[in-house]
Amino acid sequence: MQNRWDESIAEAWQQRYSQDGSPDIDSDRFLNHRSVRKFSEEILSRELQGYLVAAAQSASTSSNLQSWSVISVSDRDKKQALAEAAGNQKQVATAPFLCLFLADLYRLQTFARQNGIDPDGLDTIEMFLVACIDASLAAERMVCAAEAQGLGICYIGGMRNQPERVQLLLNLPEMTFAVFGLCIGYPAEGAEGAIKPRLNQDQVWFENGYPATLDSTDYDQRAHEFFVQHRMPHDAPWSQKCGQRAMTAGLSGREELMNFLLKQGFVKR
Ligand SMILES: Cc1cc2nc3c(=O)[nH]c(=O)nc-3n(C[C@H](O)[C@H](O)[C@H](O)COP(=O)(O)O)c2cc1C
Repeated sequence: MQNRWDESIAEAWQQRYSQDGSPDIDSDRFLNHRSVRKFSEEILSRELQGYLVAAAQSASTSSNLQSWSVISVSDRDKKQALAEAAGNQKQVATAPFLCLFLADLYRLQTFARQNGIDPDGLDTIEMFLVACIDASLAAERMVCAAEAQGLGICYIGGMRNQPERVQLLLNLPEMTFAVFGLCIGYPAEGAEGAIKPRLNQDQVWFENGYPATLDSTDYDQRAHEFFVQHRMPHDAPWSQKCGQRAMTAGLSGREELMNFLLKQGFVKR
């Protein structure tokens, strides 16, 4: 399956930064990502699913601990319930291949105990971070492999809105946590999405130290133009929206996440 997004690296660069200047590098499509939220009904073969899991497992992993797992959900009712738990996100129910990426210290705990070891450091924030980083790296490698196969993806952080409900639906044991969902499928006709502008590199790439000032003006303008062009909500500048998203009211229930993590056995210190 060919990648359906055929922007050259120069075109993708232009759309990311609203200016020319792409490097003279053979296009590998790594700049072409966009989230896709509407999928065709075409299913992914079991072979392709296995390939995507292998790609995820090929990511680097802290100390080779492999402290993550993935649960793919094919049961329709479960998918619907997960879509509701994630804030009624339709793409969760309709994604041909729905994955939930777990931070998973349960397996490590199990194997440690089987070896007569008391893994008394598992409840530290360090080990929680290790598991979340592992899960994220694995997921993003699955994403890169999927997109190279012409598939579209959408991460679902909404899976953290109601963690207890997700835990019940997936029978998650202690020391596991669904960090996010990942919807994968072939983009529906007309729902291929567009390359979204990103901050200028001078706002994210600093040399030899952090800068004294930051400036959102240019990106606020470019993001605004993108949202107008694509008929997306554009009632406030991007920087203002980010601020609002960081308010407790913008956290969709996730402000209580610590209680769940503690209950699961994570981050006690
Ligand atoms: C960890 C994570 C969680 C996300 N959660 C959601 C989500 O719950 N629903 C959704 O529609 N998009 C979600 N997204 C997608 C982002 O909104 C999207 O990546 C961002 O707006 C940039 O757009 P692009 O991916 O098209 O470049 C999530 C992305 C990440 C990385």
